[in-house]
Amino acid sequence: MENHPIGIFDSGVGGTSIWKEINALLPHEHTVYLADSKNAPYGEKSKEEIVALSIKNTEFLLQEGCKLIVVACNTATTNAIDYLRARYKVPFIGIEPAIKPAALQSESKKVGILATKGTLSSMLFHSTSENHANGIEIIEQVGTGLVPLIESGKVDSPETRALLEKYVNPMIAAGIDYLVLGCTHYPYLLPVLKTLLPAHVKIIDSGEAVARQTKAVLVRHDLLTTSKENGTHRFITNANVKILENFLKEYKDSLELHYQDF
Ligand code: DGL
Repeated sequence: MENHPIGIFDSGVGGTSIWKEINALLPHEHTVYLADSKNAPYGEKSKEEIVALSIKNTEFLLQEGCKLIVVACNTATTNAIDYLRARYKVPFIGIEPAIKPAALQSESKKVGILATKGTLSSMLFHSTSENHANGIEIIEQVGTGLVPLIESGKVDSPETRALLEKYVNPMIAAGIDYLVLGCTHYPYLLPVLKTLLPAHVKIIDSGEAVARQTKAVLVRHDLLTTSKENGTHRFITNANVKILENFLKEYKDSLELHYQDF
């Protein structure tokens, strides 16, 4: 089993930001990445719909023989990971907004979080932010419209910039010193965000932590690959291959990328 691939899924291209962290830390692991772009954004769907889509993606990755599944989507993690863990034996790694490190390090005691409606309204997010927000004001902002723009490749369009400005300006006015990116699509907005935020505001996400956790769980289950070669990587999308390819251009010679309806 240890030389089977790691499965990774997201509602689309966003989870590639997590794939990059995993590949950097675990270059010998094989991976299969599923981009369910046809059904994006998950963040606007009901919990029942998010659970059903997460089950569909998991079944697909299990058919591919995956030894561990990374839910590279905050919305799917916060709404569906408990169901997945109860239903399947394979280990699951999830991603949640990095409220804890931001709350621990904030000096202004004000932390902004940008995430989907599905994540911010979930029970899991609420229990995490209550546990870590002792004395910290958390300013929540739903990133309505951002995922569809990123899914259509418009990471730096005037429309994206205007939306982001509308979302971060009230947080800046409120005095945040940390902005948590609670959606795996949003790291692609970093270049624009950096031009909108004052220099002292730090932006954090959970990508590296997810890669470290993936490694720790593989070690614990005796599932680290024994291969010394670079891993092989298959990316499957049920929408536009070209757009997914664009998010992976620096890796294009080492991946297999194709369209499949699922
Ligand atoms: N990338 C996702 C997340 O981390 C979901 C975006 C969406 O489909 O709404 O939340």
